[in-house]
Amino acid sequence: MNVLVTGGAGYIGSHAVKSLRLAGHRVVAVDNLSRGFRAAVTGDTPLVVHELGDWEHITRILRGNRIDCVMHFAALAYVGESVDDPLRYYRNNTAHALELLHAMRLAGVRKFVFSSTCATYGEPSPEHIPIREDCPQRPINPYGWSKFFVERALLDHCRATPDFACAILRYFNVAGADRETEIGEAHNPETHLIPIVLQAALGLRPHVEIYGTDYPTPDGTCIRDYIHVEDLIAAHLLCMDRLTPGTPMVYNLGIGRGHSVREIIAAAERVAGGKIRVVEGPRRPGDPPRLFADPSRIQRDLGWTAKITAVDDIIESAWKWLSRHPQGYTSQHPVG
Ligand code: UFG
Repeated sequence: MNVLVTGGAGYIGSHAVKSLRLAGHRVVAVDNLSRGFRAAVTGDTPLVVHELGDWEHITRILRGNRIDCVMHFAALAYVGESVDDPLRYYRNNTAHALELLHAMRLAGVRKFVFSSTCATYGEPSPEHIPIREDCPQRPINPYGWSKFFVERALLDHCRATPDFACAILRYFNVAGADRETEIGEAHNPETHLIPIVLQAALGLRPHVEIYGTDYPTPDGTCIRDYIHVEDLIAAHLLCMDRLTPGTPMVYNLGIGRGHSVREIIAAAERVAGGKIRVVEGPRRPGDPPRLFADPSRIQRDLGWTAKITAVDDIIESAWKWLSRHPQGYTSQHPVG
């Protein structure tokens, strides 16, 4: 298939580009490089540096490359930033996705895989955990709402357009790197737990701060469902092959188990082979105590299960990447 990957220079999008190519698809990446890195786009994949909001240009790209399917990863994804500048999130994540769908309609592209988030669930009540896809969606920040609105538009568009097929994939906490350690997680600034803990292990930061130790969880720290990026992308490829007009696919992508912040730090110490300095701090606003998926719907429908489920293996994968690319993609000479 000819696949357009938006956000193809970002963390998750770049893994999609690589996996699609290895599976024999022809891939075109689009990215405005506001958060992504040119070097993350592997092989001879063409990269179009452009804004998705420019639907006329995107229509030309879709037509010119005879695109069959769009995988849409391009988005801003910092919860705190979305609270400070909501309009930026609604423009970039919601409005641009709608312009992309408009361009797809003009170009006659009828397959769409959408990168959504467990942030659309907000703070589910305890009886909804593990989280199933029918859990009420009540986002608690503009980031979650910006993705939720696209989900809503997609479901309506799918219902009204008999030949349009889409998948909505709600990610939990994505981590790890590809097995060749060619591409991996590189955010600036980095806010995610696993890279931060590993940067502390490498001495790139003095310590890791635990955001809250008084949560109603066994060790007092927040619990999340960490899924390896290659398992996540494998689910995208499966969904793409099974897209069915008129029947939107909606799936949670997680491993179905949670790990606390302290458990992640302990696992990182095992992997890195040394103590990591920890500072206990206050809660970060907007962090729900426990979030983990019930991924049984995609298991039942498509036979997908996460292959990398041991937290040490997920962290090992992130560790290999970070120790070889301590400065991310700006590093000219990988270490090791
Ligand atoms: N944490 C720390 N110290 C840190 C960083 C994180 O204690 O330095 C904690 C957080 O408070 C949270 C857990 O580690 O309890 C995981 O935090 P991340 O920032 O890695 O991930 P989140 O669960 O906050 O965010 C993820 C996605 C978001 C998405 C959100 C939905 O990265 O895109 O889930 O809740 F919006």
